[in-house]
Amino acid sequence: MEKIDPWTLQGAVDYQGLLDEFGMEPMQAYSVTHDDLRYIRRGVVFGHRDFGRIANAMKGGKPYAMMTGLMPSGKFHFGHKMVADEIIWFQEHGADVFICAADLESYTMRDVPLAAARETAVKEYLENYLALGLAPKNVNFWFQTDYRTEYYRLRDMFAKKVTFNELKAIYGELSPGKIFSALTQAADILHPQLPELGGPRPVVVPVGADQDPHIRLTRDIASRFEAEFHFIPPSATFHKFMEGLQGGKMSSSDSKSYIALTDTPDEAAKKIMGAKTGGRATVEEQKKKGGVPEECMIYAMYLYHLIDDDLALSDIYHECKKGALLCGEDKKRCAEMVARFLEEHQKRKAKASAKAEKLAGR
Ligand code: TRP
Repeated sequence: MEKIDPWTLQGAVDYQGLLDEFGMEPMQAYSVTHDDLRYIRRGVVFGHRDFGRIANAMKGGKPYAMMTGLMPSGKFHFGHKMVADEIIWFQEHGADVFICAADLESYTMRDVPLAAARETAVKEYLENYLALGLAPKNVNFWFQTDYRTEYYRLRDMFAKKVTFNELKAIYGELSPGKIFSALTQAADILHPQLPELGGPRPVVVPVGADQDPHIRLTRDIASRFEAEFHFIPPSATFHKFMEGLQGGKMSSSDSKSYIALTDTPDEAAKKIMGAKTGGRATVEEQKKKGGVPEECMIYAMYLYHLIDDDLALSDIYHECKKGALLCGEDKKRCAEMVARFLEEHQKRKAKASAKAEKLAGR
């Protein structure tokens, strides 16, 4: 399998390859609580590392933390919503929450001016997180470019026990920006275990599959600094990526490929009406052969976001498969569901603005 470089992800990710060749474990073995997260139930969160530690902490009501980062660039869309829902689910199940705005990574790796990255982190990400249900109370939020001394000390200490060849093997061609980003991310993930932030305890990092190289490096670093800091190697969950609405990659640089959580219902409806489906060339053919929900972006919207009830989702799946459900009517229903969601969500987002500013310390 080709190795994945977290900064230049193109085309489809080989999820099975991550499980077979990189020692990631399949997620389906876990049923954690009576209300498993939709993404876990449905295999969207398909892999993990050391999740057993987290499941035990959740079941036993023991202390654990959830830490993840966001790379602020562009608009917050339904692809980003997955991590937000995961963060909130862990928070609801007892985790201390650590959220990092990777403004430094956006600046060095994505050419986003620092001020713009910071603004996007608050206005797009934090406001949407809060509107989706994040409770500010036990959230520790920071920007990579202005965090406490202990955090930078940790990052710079990590440089001592990491070799150039090792980084090359993980990330391919190196640049100073890549090296700093990788070590900063390791500090993001490990510093919640510093004594002043709660000490050694299980930490889960929910991320997209492209972040696994960072997770592997960070877990290795954790064991190399075991004697000094008593780190517990961080656990992680990995989710699949939503495809773009027209097939291919969902990308911030192509506004037709995603629905932003700030799109108007009309804008969203247009994108939905133009989306790729698993429909056949003609109505006749579709009635005869049935549709292919596995290839349909409307079905993907239901599965990932819009329909939480597994039975209701399975009904739609079978209606489509047997040709009873046609794409036109289905798109209309989807557009209506999205419109209702956006209207409510945008009201909550407008009310979250002051809280977001406060969380960001502005
Ligand atoms: N690299 C992550 C991304 O591209 C962002 C990030 C920064 C992160 N620090 C992190 C993710 C710590 C998880 C944990 O989205």
